[in-house]
Amino acid sequence: MKDLPVYPASKDDPLKRYVNKEIEDYPSPMDPPPLYTAPTIQVPYDQMVQTLKDLIDDHNDFEKVLNVFDQALVSFKEKGWKFDSEISAAFKKFFQYMDDDLILHTRKEEKALFPCLQEKLLESGEHSPGPHLMTPVDIMESDHERVSVMTNLVFNLLGLAARIRDDEARNLLFEHAFHQGQEIVEVMKLHIYKENTTVFPLAQQLLSAQDWENIVSKIGRLS
Ligand SMILES: [Fe+2]
Ligand SMILES: [Fe+2]
Repeated sequence: MKDLPVYPASKDDPLKRYVNKEIEDYPSPMDPPPLYTAPTIQVPYDQMVQTLKDLIDDHNDFEKVLNVFDQALVSFKEKGWKFDSEISAAFKKFFQYMDDDLILHTRKEEKALFPCLQEKLLESGEHSPGPHLMTPVDIMESDHERVSVMTNLVFNLLGLAARIRDDEARNLLFEHAFHQGQEIVEVMKLHIYKENTTVFPLAQQLLSAQDWENIVSKIGRLS
């Protein structure tokens, strides 16, 4: 049976973990085409509106929390699923961030920026072919939902495992939490990369000054 394709990572690939340096081309013409590939537009940070700069600043903060969480997961595994003060603090900080800062950030995107951007993307033809039109906004919202579900799962697995006395059963739950936790880090890093390099540059290009005024006013009502 043919191995699953491994795509080469670009220089800027946020998921260096999966880089396969030996593969230079997409492996087979039989592979299905991507559903929709949004254009890449280069818009430097300093040429973006303040709302987008603020969202990118949030991403930078969030990446730091993700890196600490990722390291804590590895250390948790290396220590044979034993907590220490550093691991507990990193996990606590991660869940607090997900429950507080990230929810506000996501609401700014979903309630203020994305509805307006979605209209402009559809009007300008930046979507997949029909019948179910898909835009980068749909992909971002699906990432948000996926990460929220996975975060709840990891939180509950860790809580449940800590109450189980049987070593083998407890370790299995911790291991499952570990893999889900690593997946959250990967999905979120890729999500941030897609927003910074594709979704926000498209927003900068397509939205008018009046649109931004409306978005700023909606964000003001959320905070
Ligand atoms: Fe997002
Ligand atoms: Fe974001």
